[in-house]
Amino acid sequence: MPTPVEILKHEHRIIERVLGALSGVSQRLESGEHVPPEALSSFLDFIRTFADRCHHGKEETHLFPALEQRGIPREGGPIGVMLHEHELGRGLVAELARTADAYRQGEPSAGPRFAEIARQYIELLAQHIQKEDNILFQMAEQVLDEETKARLERAFQQAEEELGAGTHEHFERVAASLEQAWAT
Ligand SMILES: [Fe+2]
Ligand SMILES: [Fe+2]
Repeated sequence: MPTPVEILKHEHRIIERVLGALSGVSQRLESGEHVPPEALSSFLDFIRTFADRCHHGKEETHLFPALEQRGIPREGGPIGVMLHEHELGRGLVAELARTADAYRQGEPSAGPRFAEIARQYIELLAQHIQKEDNILFQMAEQVLDEETKARLERAFQQAEEELGAGTHEHFERVAASLEQAWAT
């Protein structure tokens, strides 16, 4: 059975595959190539449901509070930084969604604009994941006792069930197909 940190790290690897694909899409939009609007919707769907609701949800609702209980501070500490970056990400995703709508309606500047915001999002999330993998999750492995890890595992399982049976697997397949279609 993977530990809670291993589960979250595995999700990071899936998110990174989609960030690679998003970079490929951005490159095409920057060079004026047409990208089907449905492709942009697939990215947004993955980011909103898998990266934000499922993954950031597990961190915010379960992991971070458990770390706070073990004495890792929220304010002025790594948890506060991570929460702030999740919020910055949500702001960028809302902007991406608005720009994808404009792109669908044929607005000429929307393609390059989408690419510009996507690049900011990729940069934000890539360094966010690095910080979690290398700093916060290392701390988690040290401070969480076995009982808390078991509780988190159950909570993660429940979060998956609330999302709907097969949703996680669905998005793993989406990540693979986006990578295959768009990564350069
Ligand atoms: Fe995070
Ligand atoms: Fe994360």
